[in-house]
Amino acid sequence: MTETHVFPENFLWGGAVAANQIEGAWLEDGKLPNVTDTLVGIMNQHPSISWNESQGIWELDLPDDITFLSHEAVDFYHRFEEDIKMMSEMGFKAFRTSISWGRIFPRGDEEEANEAGLAFYDHLIDTLLKYDMEPVITLSHYETPLALVAEYGGWQDRRLVEFFDRYSTVIFNRYKGKVKYWMTFNEINNAFRMPYAAAGIVKFPATDPKEPIATLTKKEIFQAVHHLFIASALATKRMQEADSDALMGVMCSFSSLATYPVDCNPENVFGALEFKRNSYLYSDVMCRGHYPGYVKRIWREEDCAPEIIAGDLDLLAKYTSDYIAFSYYRSTVYSKDAEMRVDTGGAKGFDNPFLTEKSPEPWNWPIDPLGLRYVMNELTDRYELPLFIVENGLGIDETPNENQRINDIERARYLKMHVEQVAEAIKDGCEVIGYLWWGPIDIVSAGTGEMKKRYGFIYVDRHNDGSGSFKRLKKDSFDYFKQVIETNGTNL
Ligand code: BG6
Repeated sequence: MTETHVFPENFLWGGAVAANQIEGAWLEDGKLPNVTDTLVGIMNQHPSISWNESQGIWELDLPDDITFLSHEAVDFYHRFEEDIKMMSEMGFKAFRTSISWGRIFPRGDEEEANEAGLAFYDHLIDTLLKYDMEPVITLSHYETPLALVAEYGGWQDRRLVEFFDRYSTVIFNRYKGKVKYWMTFNEINNAFRMPYAAAGIVKFPATDPKEPIATLTKKEIFQAVHHLFIASALATKRMQEADSDALMGVMCSFSSLATYPVDCNPENVFGALEFKRNSYLYSDVMCRGHYPGYVKRIWREEDCAPEIIAGDLDLLAKYTSDYIAFSYYRSTVYSKDAEMRVDTGGAKGFDNPFLTEKSPEPWNWPIDPLGLRYVMNELTDRYELPLFIVENGLGIDETPNENQRINDIERARYLKMHVEQVAEAIKDGCEVIGYLWWGPIDIVSAGTGEMKKRYGFIYVDRHNDGSGSFKRLKKDSFDYFKQVIETNGTNL
């Protein structure tokens, strides 16, 4: 048993999910599709949309023979009270979810918000507060409304800044005094890796009716990213106007900051630095308030600078992030000779021979708790801002045994090892707001759209073929996390 006494009294232990992976009810109460609704897994670069030449827009084109599990997900939309109650039994102090933009503004460009959508989040947020849980809210977790992408081309079009401003203003005014921790865009640093989901962008007009993404240029993606930055800065302004106690965080996938050079060859060391800058760009802009020199060099040399209009740079400088929210799942090794592939867990480069433990088949994500401490220290050295771990977890394919038990000892072990490193990082001087486990209840995987990749302390009876009763069942790790929270991380 490890003894740690470093977690502050008000440390936010809890869990995190995303509307599109948990709620289901994808067309209920006025909601229209968003980008993730057209994908079986966000790593799939072929969304189910096709180009309508006569109208000059992309349109939904769902194949009949594919099950989109996220459309029903785990039916949180109708069962959230039961689920939140179970999380409260674990002692959760915080719960992160996203508001599905398309429930509030179904197309994205309406003037008036959809009251039925707001009513759902009123109820959800009030339920969290009833159980003394801090709601932690992402304004878009890969959830740009489809109409904005299909009819405007998405975030490369400046008008989306205005639409998001309208949406976020409604939300801040509605939940002021109730929600303290906000994030604008989940894993904004995945914009280049997953441009459709993370940057909400397609080729517009199409150059190939079946290829919404393949022919996007760097310039178009940088333009979308610039608009996401401006939308984030404006949202921060609106949030401050609505509620001076609320805080805004940049949210990045920072597994990729734990990128180790394969050896001391200076080319590998510098290559690893450049690889990390693909992610640092986003926190550099949103925390420091300006574009760094290294991206300006890329813009210059590759002729891909976005259009920046008067006032933009002032907005970026003035409305920076109050804290840094990030996901961490694993580390990677950079080699100039390895292809650096990226998925929802981070990057996959060269295999690290020192990391012998991996997440179960078929995912095989290397387990590197010290990598989390490394990332936390790097972020603290660079920004000196509070950190919020808003995703960390382990996906396992599980089935209850004949006694209806799931003995997920690996999950408890993964949790213990990572929390130990959070404790070490606190001792190193990092300021940490909280630790939120990814998917405390089984949800649909973001990367692959499957159900069998389960992260939960709570099992949900739903399966890859769409079957299942949706019944909830506590796994053995439920009690372990409960004990961690009860002792404020003292006994791990
Ligand atoms: C993060 C995403 O990248 O990774 C989550 O923010 C996602 O939405 C999580 O679920 C884990 O990835 P996956 O593919 O295992 O669901």
